[in-house]
Amino acid sequence: MSRVTDVRLRRIYDSRGKETVEATVVSDGGATGVAGAPSGASTGTHEVQAFPNGGVATALELGTSAIRPAVRGLALDDQAGFDAKLHEVDGTPNFARIGGNTATALSVAFALARAKEQEVDLARSLGAPARPTTWPAVVGNCLNGGRHAIGGPDIQEFIAFAANASPNDEVRAALAVHRAVGEELHRRLPTHALGRGDEGGWVAPVGNVEALDILAGACAKVRDELHLSVHPGVDLAASEFFRGNEYHYRDRTLDLDGQVAFLGEIVDRYGIRYLEDPLDQEEFDGFARVTAAVGSKCLVVGDDIYTTRRERLRTGLDRKSSNAILIKVNQVGTLTDTLATVALAKASGVATVTSHRSGDLPEGWLADLAVAFGSAGLKCGLLGGERVAKLNELLRLGAATEAPH
Ligand code: PGA
Ligand code: ZN
Repeated sequence: MSRVTDVRLRRIYDSRGKETVEATVVSDGGATGVAGAPSGASTGTHEVQAFPNGGVATALELGTSAIRPAVRGLALDDQAGFDAKLHEVDGTPNFARIGGNTATALSVAFALARAKEQEVDLARSLGAPARPTTWPAVVGNCLNGGRHAIGGPDIQEFIAFAANASPNDEVRAALAVHRAVGEELHRRLPTHALGRGDEGGWVAPVGNVEALDILAGACAKVRDELHLSVHPGVDLAASEFFRGNEYHYRDRTLDLDGQVAFLGEIVDRYGIRYLEDPLDQEEFDGFARVTAAVGSKCLVVGDDIYTTRRERLRTGLDRKSSNAILIKVNQVGTLTDTLATVALAKASGVATVTSHRSGDLPEGWLADLAVAFGSAGLKCGLLGGERVAKLNELLRLGAATEAPH
């Protein structure tokens, strides 16, 4: 197996026009991997630090002065060794020196270089079977609110959850829901200019309940007309409107009991199958109450509460907090750290949902990760080049397993 001969970092921009880091890893076998790191807006408190204190400029300087000399010569088949070296160069518990986004871009670029050298797709290189029998559900944002859409609902994401089908049908179903949501918004707000939020979902001046009505109606329409399995989902990103032990919606304030009751009601009334961050990020016991109440009907997914960290998932397992965990590489900074969390989830019967960030890049490798991790879902949005790139990669992986014709 060949070795790393060079790594390079450069400044690029994400889908929000914010600076981030792209990495290139080159091997002496002639393979090159290139990957950029996405960024969140509703970041969890326990994520690693995305950039060094000096920002992208400092990350680039360190790339040349500290990282490049340290990783040259490392074997391309040793992901854990490469990622351990990134931790060693960083020397902090949360990538504060080199930045979690620098580590993410390098770690993924390294994996992509290895896959190139092996002449297989990244999913396969990371251990996916040649012909997967099940595929991650497409978890696609149709209507944005919260931090991703000023002027929209408090709930951050209204989602089409398209499961149990081929990549083709799942993508088709989720996109059809997005379209139907847009048509219904236009019907209800005929003189209003509709916009799109950070993740490509619609933005409109509607409240939470009206948005849920529209989403559930759109899912039902697609089920009836296309006979595809697609159901409503939400990511509340509840930490964003949690203050002083209460959940502050624009029109009312709920305490924990009220919030748990509200969640139970909407899951039943709208047939929600995907429920992400329903409570604040420190609410392990509250999450357990939600999971006990609705976990048999839907995925209860922890994002900000776990931030992909294995030790936080362990706490969640002890307290029976959720039946699913969101996986974002740059919350922990390397593929090896991510894989450790995925392995613990798998061994414990907790589903994984592999996710984009609200500021993302037109790269498809996230779909490879979702397939390699055997994830229950690929959360990647639906519209905009940076979202479609991931859907199209999922379609490519699906097509590669079909018999040639
Ligand atoms: P973020 O949002 O990328 O802004 O953190 C996505 C999410 O909360 O799932
Ligand atoms: Zn989330």
